[in-house]
Amino acid sequence: MIRSVGHISAMSPYALAQLNPPEGKRLISLSQNESLRPPSPLAIEAGAKALKGGHLYPDPDWGELRAALSGIHGIPAESILCGNGSMELIACLAQAFADEQNAVLAPAHAYPFFRSAAQMVRARYDVAPESDGRVSVDALLAAVRPDTRIVFVANPGNPTGTRIPRAEMLRLRDGLPGDSLLVIDEAYGEFADHLNEPMFDLVGRGDTVVLRTFSKAYGLAGMRVGWGLFPPEIAREVRKVMNPNNITIAGQTAAKAALMDQSYMRDTCRKTTRLRDRLRRRLQQAGLDVPESFTNFILIRMGSPDAAHHANEALRAEGVFLRPQGGVGLADSLRMTIGPADDIDIAAGLLERWAEGKKT
Ligand SMILES: Cc1ncc(COP(=O)(O)O)c(C=O)c1O
Repeated sequence: MIRSVGHISAMSPYALAQLNPPEGKRLISLSQNESLRPPSPLAIEAGAKALKGGHLYPDPDWGELRAALSGIHGIPAESILCGNGSMELIACLAQAFADEQNAVLAPAHAYPFFRSAAQMVRARYDVAPESDGRVSVDALLAAVRPDTRIVFVANPGNPTGTRIPRAEMLRLRDGLPGDSLLVIDEAYGEFADHLNEPMFDLVGRGDTVVLRTFSKAYGLAGMRVGWGLFPPEIAREVRKVMNPNNITIAGQTAAKAALMDQSYMRDTCRKTTRLRDRLRRRLQQAGLDVPESFTNFILIRMGSPDAAHHANEALRAEGVFLRPQGGVGLADSLRMTIGPADDIDIAAGLLERWAEGKKT
């Protein structure tokens, strides 16, 4: 019998969405926070053309993509690392900065891959309570231990959809010890950019990393391109554990073209937030509890784990897949991605019917 090493045997596989509609039903997936529409036509064209160079290895330094990111965000190209999705960067940060001697800290309802990244390197995973789905800086600071090496926070958060204002983020960073790395995961950052609270300047302190991705607002989840702004010493260590040829030629080229089409991305954000806010009002009118969201999804508090389970089953029976949140301590909740308008309408209708049935 060939066995994996102890901490890997003890890990559960990462729980991705289960998308198996009943026979004869069209799959409506509102479960992975993907974009409601395909990428910019410019990105599709550029990515397709790039396949002609597919016999060659990709640029290991993501030169053109980094230069474009530097221009759009006004940040130094040499401080940018690009990952095979931001998941690669999260895993590599854990690999480079945490191990079995220390701990990773995150809010209680944080993005579950933070926990996986900690488990992969045998680090202890500590969580700080949140107050009603909001990250509490006081609780995070109270949960810091002498061996806390990384603090992960997603801002805005997944699955809560709430955000940490800049003043609070500064208070968090100032309150953390100098040897704890703060990783601010802004996978949904573009949906909150209009609030004008950028965090990139924190990286200049040397103890903070800011991550972003092309998977959400840019609609390139399938191309696997994430990126982040890193202090130079942190970037140097992370690069040692990254796949040196991590992003395909098509991925790099499509991401650069998508970035150059800011108006398409902004339009995606506008369309998404308009649909999201309309959906929220509709579900609230049906009596459901839907907190404000700053992302491309909403969290629906169904009242109890039982109610969430039954509503989810009723939706699945019609081929509609939301994402139950028991894995992150929110068993009473379902997360719903803002997908195409027709799909949202079908899901909302089913939820209304379910809420109505509960009243009678
Ligand atoms: C908070 C957060 N971070 C990171 C990711 C992963 O993004 P990527 O597709 O860039 O790996 C997700 C994806 O859902 C996310 O919600």
